[in-house]
Amino acid sequence: MKNLPIGVFDSGIGGLTVAHALKEKLPNESIVYFGDTEHLPYGEKSDEAIQDFSKKIAKFLMKKNCKAIVMACNSASSVAFDVVKKQADHISVFNVIDPIVKVVAKSCNDCKIGVIGTKTTIQSGVYSRKIQSICSSAKVASLATPLLVPMIEEGFVNEKISHQIIANYLSKKTLSSLDFLILACTHYPLIHQEISDFYNNKVDVIDSASIVADSIRSALDNKNLLNSNKTPKYQFYVSNFTNSFAESAKFFFKEEIKIKEVNIWN
Ligand code: DGL
Repeated sequence: MKNLPIGVFDSGIGGLTVAHALKEKLPNESIVYFGDTEHLPYGEKSDEAIQDFSKKIAKFLMKKNCKAIVMACNSASSVAFDVVKKQADHISVFNVIDPIVKVVAKSCNDCKIGVIGTKTTIQSGVYSRKIQSICSSAKVASLATPLLVPMIEEGFVNEKISHQIIANYLSKKTLSSLDFLILACTHYPLIHQEISDFYNNKVDVIDSASIVADSIRSALDNKNLLNSNKTPKYQFYVSNFTNSFAESAKFFFKEEIKIKEVNIWN
């Protein structure tokens, strides 16, 4: 079991930020990545649709013999974690929300915490529920920021136009006087610095990639499931291949990767 791969999935290529962090923190682990580029963006889909896609992807990753599944998408983690966990009940399933909530809740007494993400993630209210269940004095202000995903995918990062869109969202009154800002979308690590710059580094900006990877490492270690074999293999699949995804994937995984299209829906 130890030497089996970790399955990672997202609605598209944003989850590659988490896959990259896993590769950095767990260099012996093999990874099977699936990006549902055919149904992207999940942030605009119904809960039922996301649950259905997520269950099918989990089935695909189980067929690939994965020892664990990482839902590297906040939208899917928000509304489909329980159904995937139920379906894959013999292996560990990780979402990208719990590790972040744990980290923030440790130091959130009387704090104001901002959360930005897709419409699905924000409308689910999952971050505020989970944070307040651990730290009832925390104030949580959430804002859907749907323009950020297409902006990042089109490569508008660290440019005048991205500064303007980010400033427009982050200047909303609801997000004033924050102590923390949670980047509740796996695309957003790519604009982490731009967001920190907007706040002149005065707000603690938290993205999921490395926190999630740390928490998976310790969970696998506790279950004695860390790979001891030093020849990891990486496989990348998408449900709909385009050259533009392949181009952007390098940017998210920080190296050239080979992506294969696969039909998992029948
Ligand atoms: N990566 C997805 C997430 O973390 C955002 C993209 C989408 O809407 O599918 O929520």
